[in-house]
Amino acid sequence: MVREGILDLLAANPGEYVSGELMSERLQLTRAAVWKQIKVLKETGFQIEAQTKKGYRLLRTPLNINAWTIKHLVKTRKLGHELYISEEVTSTNEWAKELARKGKDHGTVVLAETQTAGVGRMQRHWEAPKGGLWMSVILKPKLSLADASKLTLCAGVAVVDAIAEVCKIKVGIKWPNDVVFNGLKLVGILAEVVGEWNTVQTMVIGIGVNVNLHRMQLSKELTATTLLEITGIEFDLNSLAAKILEHLEEELINLKTKGFDSLRDRWMQRAVGLGQTALIQQGNRTFEGIIQGISIDGELIIKIGEESQTFSAGEVRVRSTTGTYF
Ligand code: BTN
Repeated sequence: MVREGILDLLAANPGEYVSGELMSERLQLTRAAVWKQIKVLKETGFQIEAQTKKGYRLLRTPLNINAWTIKHLVKTRKLGHELYISEEVTSTNEWAKELARKGKDHGTVVLAETQTAGVGRMQRHWEAPKGGLWMSVILKPKLSLADASKLTLCAGVAVVDAIAEVCKIKVGIKWPNDVVFNGLKLVGILAEVVGEWNTVQTMVIGIGVNVNLHRMQLSKELTATTLLEITGIEFDLNSLAAKILEHLEEELINLKTKGFDSLRDRWMQRAVGLGQTALIQQGNRTFEGIIQGISIDGELIIKIGEESQTFSAGEVRVRSTTGTYF
């Protein structure tokens, strides 16, 4: 793509002017065509300064998702090298599953500015207006199905670490994979197996982060928050996406090479509610106990009376110090 070529040339000379002449020579375009493409880039949010005799200089990249910025930022072996972006889809998970069924590789990533039918856990609707990070990753992790279920825990740790790096705030994980701040949900993660595990061994991990959203943009009944609401700052969705992919890849490699124990340690360090009372809802049954941690299979361990019980599924509500549940 011509525009990507222009951006590559500008990014290769940070803070410096690149002459229109050099660009037209390298990209085999007329000077007028270069100027026209620069105009389009500016319209899509790239701040490019033009100076007569000197040329063009890249001042700032846009905060909204764009493939060039993510590819430029991401430092991974595989994740995010193949990347698709759409303005609007029903659900990035559905899109990624479709691409996976068509044979797209491990590490392919899809993102959308909005989702009209975002999917949450337990088939709930996930609200996904413009300003959030709605992303799904295709993974072919070469793991047993038992270990593959731990990928959501990898994603939880990766998201917490990426938010700490990019947004400088400490958020926690509520089992299995809600990322929360002060008891309010900030991120949802949905892992889905594509086809039969025995044959294709493909998973899609969907990550939804409420980033540059005003709280009013989400339904009142949700116990949710957004990064904008917490910090008052608008973040670059591309930097956040790139960091999540980097941490996710690192966690996947660690899981394979070091095993689950090391992931479990990192998960526990980031978990909220350890040692606190919680209610676990399974169908129409509710259990109450103290959260102890996660088992070697990634199940939640709860102490109920004198006994420890493990849960592989369910909704967890933790009792906060003020007595309310989140
Ligand atoms: C949850 O219920 O907590 C999981 C929510 C997962 C939402 C994300 S947004 C990107 C991806 N596409 C979807 O339709 N769902 C996931």
